[in-house]
Amino acid sequence: MVGAVEWDGESYQRRFDELAAGGQDVHGEADFVVGLAPASVLDAGCGTGRVAIELARRGVEVVGVDHDASMLATARRLAPDVTWVESDLARLDLGRRFDVVVMAGNVVLFTPPGTEAALVGGCARHVGPDGALVAGFQLGRGYDLATYDRHCAGAGLELAGRFATWDGEAWPGVGSYAVSVHRPGGQEGSRGRGEMVNEKPTVRRRVWTARSAPR
Ligand SMILES: C[S@@+](CC[C@H](N)C(=O)[O-])C[C@H]1O[C@@H](n2cnc3c(N)ncnc32)[C@H](O)[C@@H]1O
Repeated sequence: MVGAVEWDGESYQRRFDELAAGGQDVHGEADFVVGLAPASVLDAGCGTGRVAIELARRGVEVVGVDHDASMLATARRLAPDVTWVESDLARLDLGRRFDVVVMAGNVVLFTPPGTEAALVGGCARHVGPDGALVAGFQLGRGYDLATYDRHCAGAGLELAGRFATWDGEAWPGVGSYAVSVHRPGGQEGSRGRGEMVNEKPTVRRRVWTARSAPR
């Protein structure tokens, strides 16, 4: 696990700007999320707003939450009209739910050590009854999928789909990166295990993989 990091929003954003200027697609996560057809999205651990801003541009109602002031300052500079909230996700209570809560870019690896379950819980309480929690993170960095699934189960979510990349490549069972989709379980009206709105995201473009994902 990486744990708490001091971020510099402008230099973090510059890296993505340079990749985009070089022709790389930096919106694989947004493509995946849009494939789930949400009207509303909580970008949990939004950083400088890379995912949230792209979703807003595509017409999705989005709220970005991060506990890092520097990251949020850049997000606010880039998209003053988007709603940005400075908060620890572990303690977040916005008093509403979203169709999708997305944690893109290893968020769970950067939360202070020991707060992972609370982080997942904070995200889970913002997932609507037919909604989904979507998270992509690298493996082999001190926090594994079994632990993540256990933290999701503790928050009332069950695994609904797992992929090797944000472009929906099948999860082979082992790997160095995984994108997981969890949904509320055990409630009337919830979709059962393995059922997703789309079994695979509808948009297939180059996306972040284990090697290129934000560290
Ligand atoms: C690698 S950055 C990813 C940013 C953005 N999601 C992206 O993909 O470009 C990880 C972000 O997670 C945020 N984060 C980690 N733990 C958090 C927590 N407990 N509450 C709020 N934000 C958190 C960090 O502040 C950081 O901005």
